[in-house]
Amino acid sequence: MPDKMGPVNLGDALASFADIYSPRIVGRVNDYDVRIAHAKGEHVWHVHEHTDEFFLVLEGRFDVSLRDPGGRERTVVLQKGEMFVVPKGTEHKPSSPGGAILMFEPRGTSSTGDRHEGEIPDHVESTTGHYAEGLGRSSSRVAEELRRLGATAEVREMPESTRTATDAAAAVGCAVAQIVKSLVFRSVVSDEPVLVLVSGADRVDEALLAQVVGEAVEQATGKFVRERTGYAIGGVPPVGHAQPVVTYLDEHLLDHALVWAAAGTPRAVFCIAPAELVRITSARVVAVARA
Ligand code: NI
Repeated sequence: MPDKMGPVNLGDALASFADIYSPRIVGRVNDYDVRIAHAKGEHVWHVHEHTDEFFLVLEGRFDVSLRDPGGRERTVVLQKGEMFVVPKGTEHKPSSPGGAILMFEPRGTSSTGDRHEGEIPDHVESTTGHYAEGLGRSSSRVAEELRRLGATAEVREMPESTRTATDAAAAVGCAVAQIVKSLVFRSVVSDEPVLVLVSGADRVDEALLAQVVGEAVEQATGKFVRERTGYAIGGVPPVGHAQPVVTYLDEHLLDHALVWAAAGTPRAVFCIAPAELVRITSARVVAVARA
């Protein structure tokens, strides 16, 4: 829970975790929790006997299949900005091609209901919600770290998303190639995070990266990224991680006078000269990108 009275930015709150169908509690209203969750794939058929369940779609799309007492099924398709209430006692199964939702329900309500049908899939957590941590502070953590490192770069909060390189380039008005993607890989043998800073116009060649790392690497999962860096994919900054992270910077970034990097959330960025970025990250400059 936020420890100060103040606004909760739902975009920042969603960016603070990556788990699917694992609700975070972002506020309370009387005996009710306000919860947010990322959604992707099929949930499980379940029923809340004693409470209605409120859904508001914050991002993407969210579908709710409903079963009437006669066993007939129908699916309500919800787009961003649409809300829907599942009446108490109604069997329902959420699903989503990718989205985020806000729920409003009595404290202690289980995400898989009073009863559910069949096995709970691995990507669905049966929970009464977790408290969200560090709401809205990810970008200030990065700003503090920049100051500590002696960098003059200022963190800028953008009104639009900077989650992808294309989004970020549009938001700041630069070329996609000037966006620094902070990509996290996992070294397969050592099980350590490997951060690669690469131009938004390029992608990382994993075989080339494996050569410089000295062992096989794989793309990290959202959970691994959050646990090891303290940030969710889309907002991972080049500095200020939860643990020291070995960092590589692809040489193509040095082609630009200035580049833009993420600052902890999918709407915060900072502008920096590539040489200064190398200095503050202690990155090894390597050639691991392909256009
Ligand atoms: Ni439910």
